[in-house]
Amino acid sequence: MQQRGACRAGVVLSAVCLLAGCGGNQDTLHAHSSAQSNIVELFWVMFGSACVGFGVVVSLLFLGWLRRERAGFFAADGDVDRTGTRLVVVLGVALPLAVLAGLFVWADIFVVRSTAAPAPSSTQMTVEVVAHQWWWEVHYPGTAAVTANEIHIPTNTRIDLVGTSADVIHSFWVPELNRKIELIPGIENRILLDATSPGVYRGQCSEFCGVQHAHMAVAVIAEPAGRFRAWLANMAAPALPPATATERAGLRVFLSEPCASCHTIRGTSARGGVGPDLTHLASRSTLAALTIPNTPAYLRGWIANPQAVKPGAKMPAVPLSGRQLDELTAYLEHLR
Ligand code: CUA
Repeated sequence: MQQRGACRAGVVLSAVCLLAGCGGNQDTLHAHSSAQSNIVELFWVMFGSACVGFGVVVSLLFLGWLRRERAGFFAADGDVDRTGTRLVVVLGVALPLAVLAGLFVWADIFVVRSTAAPAPSSTQMTVEVVAHQWWWEVHYPGTAAVTANEIHIPTNTRIDLVGTSADVIHSFWVPELNRKIELIPGIENRILLDATSPGVYRGQCSEFCGVQHAHMAVAVIAEPAGRFRAWLANMAAPALPPATATERAGLRVFLSEPCASCHTIRGTSARGGVGPDLTHLASRSTLAALTIPNTPAYLRGWIANPQAVKPGAKMPAVPLSGRQLDELTAYLEHLR
């Protein structure tokens, strides 16, 4: 009785674990682009073919078991052998060869081509991504816009995403938009992004790249062209000057502490190139590559002790007083 209970609990637990991968965000079967639609279609046809093949094999096994007492499998006379051989040749050799060859041509010639690096002349816009341990730097060529971890794109636009790495090998993967590409130092790899509907598509670094690999998420935010243009214009502009006395004090803290030697805030003297560009930090909805939400309380906690949030992160804790932390947080959360 106890054993059966444990068995049932095991089944429920594995079902929960398996199904946890379905639905929600980062769902490979939930396509929001032309490339991903092709991948999903291929998956279902392959899955369907495999199910049919499995069904045929199991039915034949079952038939054999039902007729186990009979002398011959198909008939009592001498043509037993010939029927059996034909069955093996057709179902066991010819059919799998034809199905596998067909799937190979479709998958490795047509689907691969539709998801491969787009011809630069076929795209309307380029976005450059540089992977770092453990965040993503994003540039929009032809503009001054630089951001991190949240990549805005216009919907129904063919975008050439060009990716590389500043340190180790990472992999850029937004499952609802396309397959993966490797981001390798010194090499540029490209992928097509063409979101068909507005939304926030979560992605994840999918190549182990160090202790915080799991906290290296990315969001692709697809929005209508007008909203995207407004966002890009704001991103390209320099930072808002501090408006209150607290914010002015916060900027002074930023510039006098090591913050400015690692981060850039365009429009100030902070020109560091190690960490993310913070010019419009307050316009992002998350911090530390989607690890925590971007709220004043989380931002304050992150600055006070980054290692508590993301152990191993390259950002050191800077010794600041409680008041300095408040001023710095007020200034940074003002940078819309
Ligand atoms: Cu970057 Cu894993």
